[in-house]
Amino acid sequence: LESLLLLVLWVLASQSGPLSTFSTPGTQDATAAATAEKGLHMQKVGSGSVRAALAELVALPCLFTLWPRPGAAREAPRIKWTKVRTASGQRQDLPILVAKDNVVRVAKGWQGRVSLPAYPRHRVNATLLLGPLRASDSGLYRCQVVRGIEDEQDLVPLEVTGVVFHYRAAQDRYSLTFAEAQEACRLNSATIAAPRHLQAAFEDGFDNCDAGWLSDRTVRYPITQSRPGCYGDRSSLPGVRNYGRRDPRELYDVYCFARELGGEVFYVGLARRLTLAGARAQCRRQGAVLASVGQLHLAWHEGLDQCDPGWLADGSVRYPIQTPRRRCGGPVPGVRTVYSFANRTRFPAPGERYDAYCFRAANLKSKELSLMCKLGGKKNLFVGRPCPLGAFSSMGGATAQV
Ligand SMILES: *[C@@H]1O[C@H](CO)[C@@H](O)[C@H](O)[C@H]1NC(C)=O
Ligand SMILES: *[C@@H]1O[C@H](CO)[C@@H](O)[C@H](O)[C@H]1NC(C)=O
Repeated sequence: LESLLLLVLWVLASQSGPLSTFSTPGTQDATAAATAEKGLHMQKVGSGSVRAALAELVALPCLFTLWPRPGAAREAPRIKWTKVRTASGQRQDLPILVAKDNVVRVAKGWQGRVSLPAYPRHRVNATLLLGPLRASDSGLYRCQVVRGIEDEQDLVPLEVTGVVFHYRAAQDRYSLTFAEAQEACRLNSATIAAPRHLQAAFEDGFDNCDAGWLSDRTVRYPITQSRPGCYGDRSSLPGVRNYGRRDPRELYDVYCFARELGGEVFYVGLARRLTLAGARAQCRRQGAVLASVGQLHLAWHEGLDQCDPGWLADGSVRYPIQTPRRRCGGPVPGVRTVYSFANRTRFPAPGERYDAYCFRAANLKSKELSLMCKLGGKKNLFVGRPCPLGAFSSMGGATAQV
């Protein structure tokens, strides 16, 4: 509730100019009094969100000005960074760090991943450096500066883009050379993942017991819940297993990293299901193409939830699940893959009938808008116009819980 109140206060403050209640009566003339009564000023960085890719470092800007105030001149401002909302707009109240008198205290859970690079050399620059980024870092951040009774804040939305996914070739498990692994990712709107991508995905809970190529020619796999058959080089500990650098002719699966959707993925379900060729034709009729595996993962990352297997461009059949439920493939969220064999190999034959997932390129403007609407909530804090209806419905289960 506290942060909600602060949010409301912030909206009031930004709409009605300086808060007169913070003024201290004085004998100076009007101009001098205006400067003296408000010695602390946030330089609002604007309403744009900060976007950065998984595993990168990002700077969340926070700048303010400080005028010496008679009587309080020696008091140092207290800087506080807090994460106030999750990516889906749910209220969160995670303290990140506090800085005062040149001492920076980092909260547990953020240690080693945050710093104030300009502070205390530039005491009015409280810009926060955060990373390597995880998907769960997406959300709304608050920078608050307090000196005496003066209290200013700025809000910075952060969107972490990109998703890591496991890819297995059509015919069998462990059938890709290093070169083929790179090509498989490229054909699916992605690049072969770097070790830092897989590590970030692991920190977010990614668990997959299949050894796959990474960009540095090592072979690894992420295990959050250690179990027989998935011990690798870490026995019963959770962690990313590592086979080390391998001969590029050896055969494995691959981990890919897809960065940006740059459009929309939509589901097509006709009464009479489609063959692979029929699915391709149907997408084309709707001004689109069959989605790639990378595009479906990105759409899932953005909230797509559909318990219906559909064709993709590589001839695989998959479906995205946000809210795990019975008969939708297991207890954790994720993109499900339909295999022909019980040992999870071989794509379905092209003549089999399923639905389809199509991809249509769109301008990034509308994507930005929908993120702003998501983070700003129905009150529309960041957008100067009505939010599109889809901005909320696309959040699936997350919205339902609010
Ligand atoms: C604030 O600090 C950040 C990080 O060191 C830096 O990139 C930025 O240029 C600084 N801004 C100003 C206005 O000094
Ligand atoms: C999976 O099963 C199929 C059919 O039984 C078989 O041909 C294939 O070799 C198996 N793959 C693995 C990795 O066990």
